Amino acid sequence: MENMNNNLPERDGFASKFGIIAAAAGSAIGLGNIWKFPYITGIYGGAAFIIVYLVCITLIGAPVMLSEFTIGRKAQRNAIGSFKKIAPNSPWFITGWMGFLAAFSILSFYGVVAGWSLDYIVSAIMNKFATMGPDEIGGHFGGLISSAWRPIFWQVVFMAMTAGVVLGGVKDGIEKYAKILMPLLLVIIVILDIRAVTLPGSGAGVSFLLKPDFTKVSSEAILSALGHAFFSLSLGMGTMITYGSYIGKKENLGEVAMQVTIADTLIALLAGLAIFPAVFAFGIEPSAGPGLVFITLPNVFQQMPGGYIFQILFFVLLAVAALTSSVSILEVVVAYFQEEKNMSRTKSVIIATVAITILGMAASLSMGPWSDIKILLPGFGQLNIFDWLDKFSANYMLPLGGLFISLFVGFKMDREDVYNEVSDEGDLSVSYFGAYMILTKFIAPIGISIVFLHNFGLF
Ligand code: TRP
Repeated sequence: MENMNNNLPERDGFASKFGIIAAAAGSAIGLGNIWKFPYITGIYGGAAFIIVYLVCITLIGAPVMLSEFTIGRKAQRNAIGSFKKIAPNSPWFITGWMGFLAAFSILSFYGVVAGWSLDYIVSAIMNKFATMGPDEIGGHFGGLISSAWRPIFWQVVFMAMTAGVVLGGVKDGIEKYAKILMPLLLVIIVILDIRAVTLPGSGAGVSFLLKPDFTKVSSEAILSALGHAFFSLSLGMGTMITYGSYIGKKENLGEVAMQVTIADTLIALLAGLAIFPAVFAFGIEPSAGPGLVFITLPNVFQQMPGGYIFQILFFVLLAVAALTSSVSILEVVVAYFQEEKNMSRTKSVIIATVAITILGMAASLSMGPWSDIKILLPGFGQLNIFDWLDKFSANYMLPLGGLFISLFVGFKMDREDVYNEVSDEGDLSVSYFGAYMILTKFIAPIGISIVFLHNFGLF
């Protein structure tokens, strides 16, 4: 079977080690790190929440990432095709289908939020926030997200940028842009960090991030930490299966998973470090929720020396981080169309982008003109389209996907095959293999099941 591939044109893939890390870290590092992580850390009380999050990342996140890489590289296929190839004539491919669905729902609302950040770049350049007080900035954000055409315009611009990168292919599109954009992201965030920690009064923000108060850790906080670990590391959806299939056979998958996990966590912490010292220095509540970066930060920038430049840099950072992530979500759908439906890459990109953008328009409209449309999501009640897509994917599809992926590697695949993939056919010494299998077979499935059942209201 294997050598039948020789008749096919060579499969596109990543060309360099740095390219692999940049692309996979680019997928992981996104709105989840810079928009979501700071605000949920703010809501759940700071350092103690971060420690719980780190435990989830280590015990469940990193092993699931390695499992996704293993499945993808072994099969050399897209997320759905991988399951079909490794476990033919079995229902496991449904896991891939769930990922396909999750990709649609996540990218549709992700493109909307990324569109807001493009709109904010323009507002920041025009220095619009300079003349606004705190209430007006809140009103400005509310006005933006609830209007009909402006957010859709920016969402379409952002989705076109995403499609442009993916059209270039894996090596000459995704990898090429990730190699430029990820270092840029690191430079911007370090500049913002230096500004934040040198503000007078920044110490309170730093200790908010470093001094744990465990009395604040509720069961809801623990569950959110695990859910966010999946979202932030791009897991449970087949993104890392798809990217894994582009990783060369000589690369050390465990090392890549480790480095990407560390990079993602580091950037989330650096984002927190850029935001909380500034928030505390200007006496603002850290628990502002989803509006933290869109409402609170523009206020902070107004009062900060050099704020004009730093606000532009911040929203560029947000857009750059979002782009390398959205690209990885689109690639899941595109790779499926290309390989399983024999479509050209161009046709795949166009169909996937148009379909997802239309769904995203509905999500955007649901923040304003369509806010009366409510859909039931079991466990969450009646939600507008935007929240439904967000909660449905983050609380149902990703944990279920992660659960099935762990069970697949732990119990369905041959242990021998898994070992060969992780150790590059025995070339690498993988002393952690036994521990990895225990985490994959038991710890991850049990941990994920608890979260899932809780979301269903069964705990
Ligand atoms: N991890 C990205 C972020 O933090 C978002 C993302 C990209 C994602 N691909 C994914 C989330 C796959 C879940 C599944 O913003």
